[in-house]
Amino acid sequence: MHKIIVANYKMNGDKKFFVHVNKAINKMRIKDANLILCPPFLYVPFFKIKNKCVRLGSQDVSSAEYDKHTGQICAKMLSEFGVKYSIVGHSEQRKIGETDEVINQKIIEAQKVGITPILCVGEENDDQNIQTFENQIVSALKNCFNDNIIFAYEPIWAIGTGKVPSLTRINKAITFIRKTAKNYNIKAIVLYGGSVGINNYRELLKSKSDGFLIGESSLKLNEFKEIVKGIDDE
Ligand code: PGA
Repeated sequence: MHKIIVANYKMNGDKKFFVHVNKAINKMRIKDANLILCPPFLYVPFFKIKNKCVRLGSQDVSSAEYDKHTGQICAKMLSEFGVKYSIVGHSEQRKIGETDEVINQKIIEAQKVGITPILCVGEENDDQNIQTFENQIVSALKNCFNDNIIFAYEPIWAIGTGKVPSLTRINKAITFIRKTAKNYNIKAIVLYGGSVGINNYRELLKSKSDGFLIGESSLKLNEFKEIVKGIDDE
């Protein structure tokens, strides 16, 4: 299967940076990896994607369809600007109060307009059992009879810390996610995210993951391009 690489720029960058990223990524020769770029909402319209292996994503999507939700952006609006993927349930959103119910609603809203949600799940501490995030999956998939979804195993303790789980732990989590999703007739695509960078991506490629969700290292454009090339050449 083609590897998927998601760039989560978080609340970083500026207009100049994203125009530059867009140009540089358009010029890249990618054989079969799939690249999903997730800039902050405001910069989404600056992207004019001209590379068949690249798609546009967002870092969030509203749980509501339209109407009285000051400050929110709904799936239909994102879709109008070419967004094909939306990250949902990122731990940085969960930390500020996003509940499993809201995440479930976001998934349903995204799927309604054909946007593929990228659902982030993962345990808080490295001494916790993998099963602790089962409920994040079960709640997220409630009433959702659509298999248009990607999972990202993102252990919170590995995000932005430079620490990564062992391959055994990553594989165990991926197997667990696939097994849980199978109960919903979903053949799960599972990415790994958390401190993926130039120095560890080759080792992490040995895991069972279908690709990576990359935060900090997506901001260093040259390194990011090298990672994409390395994965594409595998
Ligand atoms: P990181 O972020 O690559 O900087 O650890 C990953 C994420 O938050 O999704």
